[in-house]
Amino acid sequence: MTAQNQPALALPVVDEELATRLQARMAEVEEALTGHIVSEADFVTTAARHLMNAGGKRFRPLLVLLAAETGPNAASDDVVTAACVVELTHLASLYHDDVMDEADLRRGADSANSRWDNHVAILTGDFLFSKSSELTADLGADAVRIQAKTFTKLVEGQILETLVPAPDADPIAHHLRVVAGKTGSLIATSALYGARFAGAPREIEDALAAYGEIVGAAFQLSDDILDIASESDESGKTPGTDLREGVPTLPVLLAQRSADPADARLLELLGTDLDDDVRHAEALELLRAHPAMNEARAYVVARATEAKELLKVLPEGPVRIALEGFADLVATRTA
Ligand code: IPE
Ligand code: IPE
Ligand code: MG
Ligand code: MG
Repeated sequence: MTAQNQPALALPVVDEELATRLQARMAEVEEALTGHIVSEADFVTTAARHLMNAGGKRFRPLLVLLAAETGPNAASDDVVTAACVVELTHLASLYHDDVMDEADLRRGADSANSRWDNHVAILTGDFLFSKSSELTADLGADAVRIQAKTFTKLVEGQILETLVPAPDADPIAHHLRVVAGKTGSLIATSALYGARFAGAPREIEDALAAYGEIVGAAFQLSDDILDIASESDESGKTPGTDLREGVPTLPVLLAQRSADPADARLLELLGTDLDDDVRHAEALELLRAHPAMNEARAYVVARATEAKELLKVLPEGPVRIALEGFADLVATRTA
């Protein structure tokens, strides 16, 4: 399901029957994905397959499949199509994101911008997004509208991240808006699509969409904590990239609120360009030891608890347990 070089963050499914079913459905999704990214131009296929084949946790399509288990038509073809739509949209956003973040490693492989150049990365992202849109059309006008709104929010989040909040604005509130947009939106849609195309009741669809948005934000926040805490490239990405690129993250923003004189050096470093290796290493070390890290972790745990509360409208059983387990895993992940 995922490549060997990727950390496992699959949905924790303890029920064997459910796990077997999801695995079989995921194999269908994988096969469909491979077919969807073929271009008439061989080079475009190569560039698109590059990151698709490099691995990835496939968390969004898995969430579609799991959310679909709440409805009577979990086995419908539309559910597989919806799963492909969200993974292709996600993949497109990764090609673009690595250009923005000047990242050289993705899914344990060279990023497309590093393997080729920014033009290839941007246009391959566009190609994948177009493929995703074409596929969404098969799901009907409502799905297209949802997909378009989701992508709007994702792009707004990515753009807001590059803007410095107004002097009177709360930087943490700004950051949470960024995270909800760039990551929460597509994960919310993954859960919503699953419920919708399996014919789940409206109440469950709404609850799963709200759950997805919160878990998605928590997923991003914990990923950002790992970017600081991780001392290896186990994630398939280069740790410390956010700090080097000056991308704000929750631990940094929390540390920047400190008035403790002991934090003077860290705050000085955070206020400067950290592209220099020595200064970058010093800032990373100080940040790793800072209480802001645990404060950020506690915030993620609180969001996961909030997300689990929303699942109370679901009947008790293996699907709800798996969704609760995923919220817990996001909050405590170490890879
Ligand atoms: C990466 O998403 C971007 C974030 C939202 C942190 P994933 O962590 O889901 O990336 P892949 O698909 O497993 O590579
Ligand atoms: C992830 O952005 C969000 C999107 C790709 C839309 P990040 O820049 O925070 O994620 P990583 O760390 O590169 O995966
Ligand atoms: Mg990035
Ligand atoms: Mg980014």
